[in-house]
Amino acid sequence: MKPSKFYITTPIYYVNDKPHIGHAYTTILADVLARYHRLLGVPTHFLTGTDEHGQKVQKAAAAAGITPQEQADRTVVRFQELWKKLDITHDDFIRTTEERHKVVVQKSLQDLLDRGEIYRAEYDGWYCVPCERFFMEKDLVDGNCPECHRPVEKIKEANYFFRMSKYQDWLVQYIKDHPAFIQPDYRRNETLGFLRKPLNDLCISRPKSRLSWGIELPFDRDYVTYVWFDALVNYISGVGYLSDEKKFTRWWPASYHLIGKDILTTHTVYWPTMLKALNVPLPETVFAHGWWLSGDNKMSKSLGNVVNPMDMIDRYGVDPFRYFLIAEMTLGQDASFTEDAFIRRYNSDLANDLGNLLSRVLNMTVRYCGGAWPDPGPESLVGAEEKEMWSIIQGAVVSMENSVTEMKLNSGLEQVIAAVRSINRYLELKQPWTLAKQPDRTPLHRVLYTAAEALRVCGELLYPVMPEKMTALRKALGMTTNQPDPERLAAWGVLKVGVEIKEVGALFPRIVVEAPKAVSAAPEAPKEQAAEGLITYDDFSKTQLRTAKVMVAEKIPGAIKLLRLEVLMGEERRQLVAGIALHYEPEQLIGKTVVVVANMKPAVIRGVESHGMLLAASRGEKMRLVTVDGELVSGAVVK
Ligand code: MSP
Repeated sequence: MKPSKFYITTPIYYVNDKPHIGHAYTTILADVLARYHRLLGVPTHFLTGTDEHGQKVQKAAAAAGITPQEQADRTVVRFQELWKKLDITHDDFIRTTEERHKVVVQKSLQDLLDRGEIYRAEYDGWYCVPCERFFMEKDLVDGNCPECHRPVEKIKEANYFFRMSKYQDWLVQYIKDHPAFIQPDYRRNETLGFLRKPLNDLCISRPKSRLSWGIELPFDRDYVTYVWFDALVNYISGVGYLSDEKKFTRWWPASYHLIGKDILTTHTVYWPTMLKALNVPLPETVFAHGWWLSGDNKMSKSLGNVVNPMDMIDRYGVDPFRYFLIAEMTLGQDASFTEDAFIRRYNSDLANDLGNLLSRVLNMTVRYCGGAWPDPGPESLVGAEEKEMWSIIQGAVVSMENSVTEMKLNSGLEQVIAAVRSINRYLELKQPWTLAKQPDRTPLHRVLYTAAEALRVCGELLYPVMPEKMTALRKALGMTTNQPDPERLAAWGVLKVGVEIKEVGALFPRIVVEAPKAVSAAPEAPKEQAAEGLITYDDFSKTQLRTAKVMVAEKIPGAIKLLRLEVLMGEERRQLVAGIALHYEPEQLIGKTVVVVANMKPAVIRGVESHGMLLAASRGEKMRLVTVDGELVSGAVVK
């Protein structure tokens, strides 16, 4: 069911340092969800921003020899530039140093004080500087901070406290009654576990003598507001709380607060009790995602393994980066980032499956149909394979829709890419290159049109994740509207018959990883041996020959004789370069069983790695591939 409105937020990011992959991830995730909802016609509001007060920022400023405000002003641009580069479509960007926010924090504090929800008391306890939090003696673990395990400082001072403890029972009941409030379920259990211990009141002030960079308490000029009390309020100050009643009722409560798992307590204990005390309804869902690890390790500055999103975008482009992050992380769990995994996924899902399909469809339409969408013919021509193809596409539409509501975007994307693979298989099965030789053009037209329409739907489904590339795909398919039309998403016949298209360059050019040592090898078929004398079986057995099935075949730009192939040899997938482009069309090769010299030294030919050599027989102008007589599993040994 479509919601009546969709308000989504990201955490607001500290401006003590430049953005990293964790920040980029949450913001991309929010953007993808916002874009899906907008496409469905749901009024959407997407808020992100920066958390500019507190010790972390004050410390970073001191280290840089600038004021905290300068520190914030310099760093905020780095976030804003990154969001622009990443095609983030937030509706608003809030900075906690803005007047519109400060006013709301102060009004809320005053209101809580006036109603006895905040009181002043002498505090005698332990303080963790990096966590900016107070702990009771009983909370400490081996005398250290229970959160970060670093030493704590003894502190005795007067402070202001929010009566959080009185809401403990109410909160436990609320969480139990509203299973959607904390997601995924195991995070709800984590919070309920935390709430099994007695909840303390929350210290919401810091004396200026210790920390001056914050929002001044409206009722005591010697104090500033605790950074979390300040920061959490952004979710309501950003949509008009206490300033624009109409705007506030339009958007609040938020549909989703997206957060990382490390800030669960602040969002599922502090925030709901603060809202309860303010008489404001709670957000519908706080969704905590896992962490991006660098390989198997935590990313940290000291380990020097933090992934910089700007580097990845510069190297591989924005959309592949967005795609990888969304496809690779199962929401809730940690995920591992490595450049190798990125390249593998890019080459397989985007270059081989999606990009290749677009090139095939355009290429054959240009070659066989004069470069315009052909008429698929009457309904009566719809065969079993077309029906199956179309039901796979409908299935992908439903999966993608469900994956948005269930926050399982990675599985939605998996279904769409599986659908793309089925279109490639459909083409292999129907062999338009063979149909093109028949005088009756209708079967050819129907196959090409069906493949193009199916590809169009997959492109529309991927649009919120890869807006730029999928706009290019729509253009390549001859569509003129700027954005997918949800009403016609899975309708048949959206591509207009007769609309002209033309071939475009590769949508996702393959990422070629240069082999450490390039060994040059001729890509031609084996030359006739200038054999002197006979060889023994031992000589022959040095050559390992194996059968392989061709999965991918494409031209190598700028090399008229060469094709790049991907073959399956048993479980193993290999890339080969073969000098057969003058004798075979790439489409003809898909699905063929060929014979490969499996123990050739790898070579880099025209920048593409080749791991083996195809066997072919040639005489004069003619060349034919060596294949086996009948069905045989790939990877079989030839001897
Ligand atoms: N300012 C607070 C949030 C206040 S919200 C009212 C804050 N800022 S932060 O910049 O330190 O972190 C922002 C988000 O980045 C958090 O959700 C955190 O979980 C996330 N990440 C930090 N490192 C991360 C990874 N390596 N992987 C994924 N997300 C991670 O906390």
